[in-house]
Amino acid sequence: MLFRNRFLLLLALAALLAFVSLSLQFFHLIPVSTPKNGMSSKSRKRIMPDPVTEPPVTDPVYEALLYCNIPSVAERSMEGHAPHHFKLVSVHVFIRHGDRYPLYVIPKTKRPEIDCTLVANRKPYHPKLEAFVSHMSKGSGASFESPLNSLPLYPNHPLCEMGELTQTGVVQHLQNGQLLRDIYLKKHKLLPNDWSADQLYLETTGKSRTLQSGLALLYGFLPDFDWKKIYFRHQPSALFCSGSCYCPVRNQYLEKEQRRQYLLRLKNSQLEKTYGEMAKIVDVPTKQLRAANPIDSMLCHFCHNVSFPCTRNGCVDMEHFKVIKTHQIEDERERREKKLYLGYSVLGAHPILNQTIGRMQRATEGRKEELFALYSAHDVTLSPVLSALGLSEARFPRFAARLIFELWQDREKPSEHSVRILYNGVDVTFHTSFCQDHHKRSPKPMCPLENLVRFVKRDMFVALGGSGTNYYDACHREEF
Ligand SMILES: *[C@@H]1O[C@H](CO)[C@@H](O)[C@H](O)[C@H]1NC(C)=O
Ligand SMILES: *[C@@H]1O[C@H](CO)[C@@H](O)[C@H](O)[C@H]1NC(C)=O
Repeated sequence: MLFRNRFLLLLALAALLAFVSLSLQFFHLIPVSTPKNGMSSKSRKRIMPDPVTEPPVTDPVYEALLYCNIPSVAERSMEGHAPHHFKLVSVHVFIRHGDRYPLYVIPKTKRPEIDCTLVANRKPYHPKLEAFVSHMSKGSGASFESPLNSLPLYPNHPLCEMGELTQTGVVQHLQNGQLLRDIYLKKHKLLPNDWSADQLYLETTGKSRTLQSGLALLYGFLPDFDWKKIYFRHQPSALFCSGSCYCPVRNQYLEKEQRRQYLLRLKNSQLEKTYGEMAKIVDVPTKQLRAANPIDSMLCHFCHNVSFPCTRNGCVDMEHFKVIKTHQIEDERERREKKLYLGYSVLGAHPILNQTIGRMQRATEGRKEELFALYSAHDVTLSPVLSALGLSEARFPRFAARLIFELWQDREKPSEHSVRILYNGVDVTFHTSFCQDHHKRSPKPMCPLENLVRFVKRDMFVALGGSGTNYYDACHREEF
C-alpha cells in the first residue's frame, strides 16, 4: 500500500505546513529572497516576516494541503495591528464556509465515509466544541430570517449529507471566531460587554454549511451569546448583491470566462487522458465523469485521509489527483491574464463592496450600529471580491478562508479614517488596486477610507475599459 504510506507522510507534513501556511498565503506576491531596498520591501517584510521555502515549482499536493486548511496550532495573524493612537471603529468579515462533504459524487463509486456528527474524541477538536453544540440546541427560529429557520444549527449526520459541514469545518470557524475575539474584543474593545443586537450585522446564504459556519465563528467570537440578540439575515445570491443583482454585462463576462475555461481544458491532453483513465476505472463515459466534477470529491478524500475510490477495474490515484489539481492551478493563472473574470468580478462584487462602504461611512458619522458585520459565504463570493479589489494573486479561497475589512480612526486626527484589508490573517492593504502606491507617500500603515470609497463608487469600473463610471452604466453597456 504505497499510496497509504505516502498519504500518511503527506498528512504528517500537513500539520507543519498548516503552521507555516499563514506566511505562505501570499507567496506569488512575495519573492522568497527578501528584496533589498525596493520601496515595496517595507510592506512586504511586514506581511511576511519569516523566510520560508515554497516548492520551487507549483506543487499540486502542497496547494491542496493549503486548501484543506487542516486546523493545527494557533496561527499568527495580522488582524488588529495598528499604532496605539488608532481606534478600531468597525470590522467587516467575509468568510467561506469550513470543510464540507463533497457536492458531487464520483459516479458508481462508494462515497467517502465521513462522519458529520460532532464528537470530542475525534480530531480535529476545539475546547469549545461541546459547549457550541449545547448552545446551538438552545437556539430558536426567531433568530433567523426565513428560510434559514428550517436549517439545522450544527452538522449531525453519522454519514455526511452532500455539502454538509464537517467537524473540521466547525473547528476551523470556532478557531477563526476565537482569534477575532482575542483581537477585536479583548484587545480593541470593538463591542461593549453589554453589546446590543443592532451592533451586529449577520448575513448568510441559505445553505446549512454557511449558516453553521457563521454560527461557529460567532460562537467563538461571542461565547454563550444571548440568542435574543442574534438575527441572521438570509442572502439569496452567492454574490450578496441583494436588490442590485440584475446586471446583463456581468453575465456576458461570465459566459466568455466559461468559454475560456472550456478551451483551456481542451488544450490539456494530459488532463483529457486522465479523465479517460478515471472514466474507465469507474466505467462511465468520460463526459459523465467530467460532469461529476471529480476533483471536489477527490479533495474530500485528500483532506480527510481517506484513500481514493477503487473498483474492480482499478483505483483512482494520486497521479490523477495531481493532474487535475495542476490544471486547476493553470486555469487560475490564465484566468488572471485574460481578465474576463476581472470584468465579472468588478460587476459581481460592486453591490457588496458598496454596502460595506455604506456601513463604514455610517460608522464614521458616529453611529454605533453594525460595528461587526459577518457575511457567511462561498468561494464564489470571496473570489470575485478579491479579484475586484485587485488581489488577483491571492490564492483561491480555502475552506474557512476569511477576508476582513477593518475601519480605524486616528485619535490624533479624529476626522481621518483608514482601512486595512486582511486575507487569512495577512495584511494585503497595499496590494489592493486602490491603495497600491499609498504607503510610498504616507508613513501611515493603513489606507485612507476615501481611497476605498472612491474606488468602489467610481474607479473600479475603469478596469472594464468602457466609458461607464457607475454600476448601472457598466452593467448595461451596449457595445460589449
Ligand atoms: C490516516 O489513515 C490511516 C489509516 O487509514 C491511519 O492509520 C492514520 O493515522 C491516518 N493519519 C492521520 C494523520 O490521521
Ligand atoms: C450603494 O449604496 C448606497 C447607499 O449607501 C445606495 O443608495 C446605492 O443604491 C448603492 N448602489 C448600488 C449600485 O448598489
